[in-house]
Order: sequence, then C-alpha cells, then structure tokens
Amino acid sequence: MLSYQHAYHAGGPADLHKHAALAELLAALTAKPRGISYAETQAGRGLYDLAGAEALKTGEAAAGIGRAAPGADTPFGRALAAVRAAHGADAYPGSPLVARALLRPQDRIVLMELHPAEHAGLVAALPAGSAEIHRRDGYEGVLALAPLRPRRGLVLVDPSYEVKDEYAAAAGFVLRLARKWPEASVLVWYPLLPAGREAELVGRLGPLGPLIDEVVFDPAPARGMYGSGLALVNAPHGAAALLARARAQGGGVLRHRGA
Ligand SMILES: C[S@@+](CC[C@H](N)C(=O)[O-])C[C@H]1O[C@@H](n2cnc3c(N)ncnc32)[C@H](O)[C@@H]1O
Repeated sequence: MLSYQHAYHAGGPADLHKHAALAELLAALTAKPRGISYAETQAGRGLYDLAGAEALKTGEAAAGIGRAAPGADTPFGRALAAVRAAHGADAYPGSPLVARALLRPQDRIVLMELHPAEHAGLVAALPAGSAEIHRRDGYEGVLALAPLRPRRGLVLVDPSYEVKDEYAAAAGFVLRLARKWPEASVLVWYPLLPAGREAELVGRLGPLGPLIDEVVFDPAPARGMYGSGLALVNAPHGAAALLARARAQGGGVLRHRGA
C-alpha cells in the first residue's frame, strides 16, 4: 500500500522494539570478519525528523524514543548517536540507516522501496554507493536476487499492514525465501492490534520454527496498536538473549508480553 508514510510513526514504541532488535542482530552477525548480506523488502525513507509535522502530529516518537535512552555501548545506541552526529539532535534513523551505521565495507546492503518519494528520500539519505537501492516491489525484488552473496545474512520484512492480506503475503514471502536462500535469517515485524490478525502470520510461519518476541507498550494506548511483535526465522545462535537485550533498551516502554 502506498498511502502509508512511516514519518508519522518513526521513533515510536514499535520502532524502538524493531530497531533495537535489528541492531543487536546485525552486531552479532558481524562479530566475525567475513562479510554478510543485509536486505530489506520495505525500507522506507531511511532518515526521519522527529521535530517535523508528521512526528509531532501523532506524538508516537515522544512516547517511544523520547522516553528511552539506549546506552551508548549498545548497537542501537551507537547507530542513533552516529545519525544524530551527522544530521542533528532531532534526527532518527530508519532501519536502513541503523544498518548502514553498523555494517562494514565487506557487507552488502540491498534495499527495496516502492513509493517514489520515500525511494527518493532513501537515495538522498545514504552515501552514494553505500547500498544497492531499488524502486521495486520488495518481495518480488528480494526473491529475484536471492540467494544474495555473501550467503550469510539477514532480511528485514517490515510491511505497513494497512490491509489484512499483508499478513498472509509476508508469510508467503518468507516461506518462499527460506526455500531459495536457506542460510538467511529473516526478521518479520508485525503489529499487535485488537483484531489479532498476527495469529495468521505467526501460524503460517510455524513450519519454519520462528523465534517469537512480543512486547506490549507501557502505558497501553487507549485504542489501536497496543504492542509489537518480531518473528525471527533461522535465528542466529544466542538470538533469544539478543532480543531480550533489545527489549531492555526500551526504557520501560516495552513490556515483554506474557512476562
Ligand atoms: C513500515 S514502512 C518501513 C519502515 C522501515 N523499515 C523502518 O523501520 O525504518 C513500510 C514501507 O514499505 C513501503 N512499501 C509498501 N509497499 C511496498 C512494496 N510492495 N514493495 C516495497 N516497498 C513497499 C512503503 O512505501 C513504506 O515506506
């Protein structure tokens, strides 16, 4: 869906959960010198202004990163600091800039974004030549390129879930990708909404044995999205501890579901 704009939600509680987890996973995957591949199916524009009209309108950033202060020694804290140093104190990194801040010259970054303005923003936000950026349907594009080389790597799946078919589409993509690129870890973000549609996504991923990490937001919003979920397929060694570290960076905003 191309009406969605992530600028209204950037830095919100769900981004905190997703971006801290992404940063922990990328730091772990790059612990050894060998290069990795990192791909995104829905990249967004990469760089957000938390003093901009969109962020101020929803107040989500104030409820999210505005209440959390990821430690300077954490991968997410390092990415945040690098982006603020380059773009100012109100800048917030989308997932592509989190990855760019943590990956090394030997790593490969492939980003898909279909919306023309978001794609143009993404091209402007990243140094020329630092990532392969496609204006292309993310599922079609990543499947066409898979398996990426280096074959060790991570794919982030981050749809806007504006229509209910997107849960099945995300799961269908991951099942196909797992056959084409079995070495890849895949991190799928999903919202927790009163309608409970995430059950379809999690259920369809069941045969791949995903690691599930769900948080509810504190305080609970009066309506709408009340939490955030991550399904990690082909989880790297030690991933459960990494996801717990990510949650802990939420400054009390993220409460482990069921805990
Ligand atoms: C939730 S946002 C991405 C946020 C980003 N991953 C982050 O964490 O900073 C979803 C993005 O997917 C884009 N999008 C929607 N349909 C798409 C498609 N079929 N292929 C690629 N991108 C798409 C939207 O324009 C939007 O920018």
